[in-house]
Amino acid sequence: MAKIYKIGNKDFLLDEQKAKEVYSAKKVINGHETMTFNLLPLKYTWAYDIYRNMKANHWEPEDISMQKDIEQWKSQDFLSDNERWIIMMGIGYFSAAEGIVGDNILHVVRENVTAPELKLVLGRHTHEENIHADSLLYMISSLGINPHECEAMFEQIGTIKRKNSFVTKVSQSLRRDLDLTKTENKQLFAKNLFVFGQCMEGTQFYGLFGMILSLYRQNKFPGIGQMFRYTLRDESNHIELLRNLFMDLVSENPDIWNSDFKEELRSLMSEAIRLEKEFIDDCLPVSSIGLSPDEFKQYIDYIANRRLKSCGLEELTPGITNPLPWLAELMDIKKEQNFFEGRVTEYQKASSLETVDDDEL
Ligand SMILES: [Fe+2]
Ligand SMILES: [Fe+2]
Repeated sequence: MAKIYKIGNKDFLLDEQKAKEVYSAKKVINGHETMTFNLLPLKYTWAYDIYRNMKANHWEPEDISMQKDIEQWKSQDFLSDNERWIIMMGIGYFSAAEGIVGDNILHVVRENVTAPELKLVLGRHTHEENIHADSLLYMISSLGINPHECEAMFEQIGTIKRKNSFVTKVSQSLRRDLDLTKTENKQLFAKNLFVFGQCMEGTQFYGLFGMILSLYRQNKFPGIGQMFRYTLRDESNHIELLRNLFMDLVSENPDIWNSDFKEELRSLMSEAIRLEKEFIDDCLPVSSIGLSPDEFKQYIDYIANRRLKSCGLEELTPGITNPLPWLAELMDIKKEQNFFEGRVTEYQKASSLETVDDDEL
């Protein structure tokens, strides 16, 4: 229905039907091509909801004190060598990984989606990866770790290198003009969303998250632990964002969803798990600090099952239980009334208190 606005001696015609056509042409990929960033009317309302949650969860690294961590790091006898090594591995791995994710989201995912609300939330996702990368820089400089050692870690530690090349290989092939009307290219794109969202951010991040938060539970590295809790809360949104994107892509493009492709995704997850378990062995070469590598490996199997299921794929190891139930509680920031004391409160809006539920892990 067309509506005419008469303003002075001018008539302005607004044709609702035409606007509706544009709306129905909004798609994850191959949608209406336009230079205007027309958010409204929203089609992917989940994307805007996640964007709002992300905004409300905003944090900055400098809001968190590193004082205690510095004292502990400098003390001669407070920490064991393995505890220091976990922090080194955490900083070494995530310094590279956060950047790799942010770069892929900006140059592959955001580049190829066509609906503006998807671009909006992916822009925020990229920014959050920058915050995470910045938080690592803050940890490294606070503890006085030689930054060249971090660089050396992702060049020279085999298990870090292999995790990184597992994800970059599904990213580099998409950095060219890709004809996304072809089924095989759509599958490449879906694979990218799955590998980054479910295998990397959703599974491979959790070995170290678990170890660092185990130390945090023992009152070791309270500042670093706090930053990882914030990061983990952000990651829940990223995993959900990439999962929704993946699911909508599949439902708009049923041609990609065949049994061979599903099997390919399951075997990618299986490779991700294998790489993560090798990495856990490098992080915990001795089990003398109250952390058992087997528990973390079981957790990886458990979380991978959940990721697969959430994407409509069969679990790899059905029946595995969660060996680290406390991790979900540590994630649940809203339960702690005093947690938001300090400057961070200024960023916290009421809506963010609803963002993480126990189900996320
Ligand atoms: Fe991140
Ligand atoms: Fe992330």
